[in-house]
Amino acid sequence: EIYLHGLLTGEAPPFGTDPAGLEDAARERMSPEAYGYVAGGAGTGATMRANRAAFGRRALVPRMLRDVGVRDLSCTLFGTRLPAPLLLAPVGVMSIVHPDAEPAAARAAAGLGLPTVLSTASSTTLEEVAEASGDGPRWFQLYWPKDRDVTVSLLQRARAAGYTALVVTLDTWLLGWRPRDLDRAHLPFLRRIGIANYLSDPAFLAGLAKPVEEDPLAAVAHWAGMFADPTKTWEDLAFLREHWDGPIVLKGVLHPDDARRARDAGMDGVVVSNHGGRQVDGAVAALDALPAVAGAVGEEITVLFDSGVRTGSDILKALALGARAVLVGRPYVHGLALGGEAGVRHVLRCLLAEFDLSLALTGHTGPTGLDPGLLAPPLPG
Ligand code: FNR
Repeated sequence: EIYLHGLLTGEAPPFGTDPAGLEDAARERMSPEAYGYVAGGAGTGATMRANRAAFGRRALVPRMLRDVGVRDLSCTLFGTRLPAPLLLAPVGVMSIVHPDAEPAAARAAAGLGLPTVLSTASSTTLEEVAEASGDGPRWFQLYWPKDRDVTVSLLQRARAAGYTALVVTLDTWLLGWRPRDLDRAHLPFLRRIGIANYLSDPAFLAGLAKPVEEDPLAAVAHWAGMFADPTKTWEDLAFLREHWDGPIVLKGVLHPDDARRARDAGMDGVVVSNHGGRQVDGAVAALDALPAVAGAVGEEITVLFDSGVRTGSDILKALALGARAVLVGRPYVHGLALGGEAGVRHVLRCLLAEFDLSLALTGHTGPTGLDPGLLAPPLPG
């Protein structure tokens, strides 16, 4: 379609198709603060670079003459048929990037039938995003608060709003805080910094001494105090299991023993992820961690993957190494910065088109049955 558009009209596609070019164009549209927020990695950025380098070390070995004329990208996750093994990773506070924020991303995903995973730290309430996503598949990401009542309240709201799976992020117990943001803590700004789900939560509001309008700083302090609880252990998962009757997926698993513990704790899946290199500088590249996790639990629970996926052939590599589906983060945020909903749709369509082509050109007709034999031995790092 893109080739034909170019040939027939002589015009380049509206947003470009190269991921690095899209990032450069998005950067020009964003304030330096917004770009810094999206592009940032932990510390020296070593893990973020390692995520991409790991894809570079794994090469596809195409196979020929295998009748790839009819292809089917669809896959099934937790009993739901999806058009492709691709989800939108949870990204907090998207209003920093574009005023249409999370609802625009959710609409773009729903239009293609792809699941959106909504961050707890969204700048828009989970109910508003559910409305934008309509009939589209949607999952809810939990930054697991200290306060049990607030946790239960968030889960109940997410369930009532049609979020079917719960993604519990395990790698972000501690939050970097920016004093500059606190200085500007008036109400619209509070929503912008990603606590809309708290400010709309009855259990959260019940814990405040004064209404938010009267003392917004106290509301922020209350939220920061309960945002996450670094004392949690595997035993605490029973509480979530008790209060969420759908699939639960643990995000941020990199060690095969943790994947086994997730399985033993009755979890339904894991996301092999290092948070896009934003949490532990020097952590293992997510793709390098994937084969051992998939080998440990891939037959029993659902193994998903994110961190560093930029192209359709990256999706193929992750699936070949044992992921059932992948999540993308920054690429669709670049699309959002460039063109709101249309920009996100463009990025997702490019990924799907290139994934389809990569499958066909390597001799495959769909995501099932891919295995490490599709890849050459890893190149030395
Ligand atoms: C994130 N990520 C993230 N994860 C999460 O569980 N909750 C969140 O609120 C956020 N917020 C967030 C903001 C921004 C700006 C980025 C870039 C990322 C991590 C995200 O879900 C995912 O793990 C990574 O983005 C995947 O890596 P790539 O695709 O960005 O390389």
